[in-house]
Order: sequence, then structure tokens, then C-alpha cells
Amino acid sequence: MSKQFSVIGNPIEQSRSPELHHAFAAKTGVDLSYTKRLAPLDGFVANIQEFFSNGGSGMNVTVPFKEQAFAHCQVLSERAKIAKAVNTLWMENGVLHGDNTDGQGLVEAIRALDWPLENTDILIIGAGGATRGVIYPLAQAGAKKIVIANRTLARAEQLVADLQNAVPQVELQAISLDTLAGEFDLMINATSASLSGDALVLPETLQFKRAYEMAYGKSSSFLDQAKARGVPTSEGFGMLVGQAIESFYIWNGIKPDLKEFL
Ligand code: ATR
Repeated sequence: MSKQFSVIGNPIEQSRSPELHHAFAAKTGVDLSYTKRLAPLDGFVANIQEFFSNGGSGMNVTVPFKEQAFAHCQVLSERAKIAKAVNTLWMENGVLHGDNTDGQGLVEAIRALDWPLENTDILIIGAGGATRGVIYPLAQAGAKKIVIANRTLARAEQLVADLQNAVPQVELQAISLDTLAGEFDLMINATSASLSGDALVLPETLQFKRAYEMAYGKSSSFLDQAKARGVPTSEGFGMLVGQAIESFYIWNGIKPDLKEFL
């Protein structure tokens, strides 16, 4: 029988994970089926228990269940512990394991663009879960300095306080979006502003060489402004493919080539 995988969320209709995993399977020869599961907001744990007790091999977890998945796992990867969120589940000897591949997905997407990460100064706008999940993988990829700019400064400061020990080799700094300034190799939009259609205003004096928008398929004032400056830009489809490849690798031990799926 083919291996069974699924992505669980609420809503779930928009998820592109099944088509990505089926494309990886076709390329690598892994025999699998991958479905979507809509769980009621109070039904996450019951749903995953049912999936694994019926012989499921692995699950991806999406909004709004990543923190619940984190709380429920018995064994967690280092990067999931730091992210405080889990997007990849599997069972080993009856024990539920959790990892978080979102941040590494971003790193792989940036590498596929041939953008440098080693020894770079990076600006991340936003201080929510998306930012928390990418700091450690960016640090592991060689970032030298990461500045977190947020509308609510206290949230950026809290993130720096929480994460500095996990990335001692990187200089982490928190600033308010109002005082955004400096020169960066890479600027990343990790706010939910593009999802809600809000504009983000980048000051003229802010200097950046490349811009990555983590959201994808939405109009983005962030990307419009970066494009107007003539710098290379990209949006989050590569990250989506990258996190799926990392999950596929955990479950199946084979890593498809990201560039073939962009
Ligand atoms: P996620 O888990 O996707 O990161 P989140 O935890 O709700 O979502 O965080 C959303 C982030 O987007 C926050 O950093 C938020 O800023 P605040 O902490 O000040 O709320 C940021 N954000 C959302 N809308 C924004 C906007 N219109 N302008 C600037 N920042 C915005």
C-alpha cells in the first residue's frame, strides 16, 4: 500500500501541499498519497490521532494548529523548539515527533535564487510567528546580523530576548518600524500586512540589496517598493516549495531539487 500523508488546517482548501508532494513523488518514485484534512478548531488532537492510528505516515500542519502541534509532540527538533511551532509530524515507535521546516524552506528558497546568506546583514520586518521560525535557520546559514523591525517595538524586543541565546554567533537587534533605517544585504517581509492588504511604507533612506516577501499570490506594497528601487525580489512560493521539500526529506529520506519545482 502507498504511504499516506495529509495536511491539516482550518481553512485548508487553499493548501497547495498535495500537488507539491505528488509532484515530488512523481519525480522521485516514492509511492504516496497526500490529502487535505479540515479539522474543527477544537478537533485537532482527535484528528491527528485518528490519522496516525489508521496507519498514516506523516502530516503537515498549517494555520491555526502549528502551536497546538508543538504542544502535543513528545519529541521535538531543535528548530521546532526555537520556533515554538510544528509544521511536520510523524510517528516513530508509537511516539509523535515534530519538526518545523518553514524556516529552512526560506533558506533553501533564497539559496535557489543564488542570493548570499553567509556573512550578511538581514532586516526582517515583523515579529510574529513567521519571524520566530526563520531566525535560527538564517543564523545557521551564516547570517552575521539580523535586525527585527516591528510596528510594536516591544514584540521585537521580546523576540530578541527569547532568541539571542539560541543564535550566539549572530547580532540580533530590535527596532521600531517608525525608525527603520540602515543598509542591508537582504530584507524580508514577515508581517501579515500583505495578507490583509495593508500598505507597508519603506523609508527612502533605507538601503537594501534584495527583498523577499514571505506571503505569496497577494498584492504587496513591500514588493512594489522594492521593485521600484530596481533590486532583485522574490515572493513566498519558493519558501512554500522549500518547506514541503524538507518535510518530504524527513519522511522519505530523499530530497527533491527545489529549482525543478519553481
Ligand atoms: P505570523 O504568525 O504570521 O507572524 P502574527 O503573529 O499575527 O502572524 O504577526 C503578524 C506580524 O505582522 C506582526 O509583527 C505585526 O505587527 P505588530 O506586532 O505590531 O502587530 C505585523 N503586522 C501586521 N499588519 C501590519 C501592518 N499593517 N503594518 C505593519 N506591521 C504589521
